[in-house]
Amino acid sequence: MQLPTAALVSLIPFLPIITAQGSSGSGKTTRYWDCCKPSCGWPKKGNAPSPVGTCDKNDRPLNDGGNTKSGCDNGGSAFMCSSQSPWAVNETVSYGWAAVNIAGSNEASWCCACYELTFTSGAVNGKKLIVQATNTGGDLGNNHFDLAVGFEPGDEDEDGRVHC
Ligand SMILES: *[C@@H]1O[C@H](CO)[C@@H](O)[C@H](O)[C@H]1NC(C)=O
Repeated sequence: MQLPTAALVSLIPFLPIITAQGSSGSGKTTRYWDCCKPSCGWPKKGNAPSPVGTCDKNDRPLNDGGNTKSGCDNGGSAFMCSSQSPWAVNETVSYGWAAVNIAGSNEASWCCACYELTFTSGAVNGKKLIVQATNTGGDLGNNHFDLAVGFEPGDEDEDGRVHC
């Protein structure tokens, strides 16, 4: 589905991993793709057994235990994997990833947690997007989901890979 640049959403945390939050609420979405290593890609950020996977500059998975510096930092070589882009299951439901800031919560709670977002405005009104939190951002407001909406088919180079 076509994701909006900004839309209002209602959100329901729906996996047991974040039952501490338990309730639904409203929030907003924006979209980003900066290629940087997502914050939850570092070890022990959340309750998940392993950090969010990252990739090298050629979009190949790193098996580094989450310890490689972000390619956006001096001397770093870990990037977001292009596989962390959304896909549609059908007309109404899609899955994806997001940088998240939940009011009254913290990264330890939301890293790798999943949220069901129902859009309440725009062209996608009524459609659902289920996201896993992989990142956060200092510029995010309360209950803000910055959707990792990366590459479109056709963005690949001649070698078939997407380069950051
Ligand atoms: C879309 O997929 C979701 C998740 O599998 C399912 O619950 C829903 O019934 C499907 N909707 C349609 C219109 O097929």
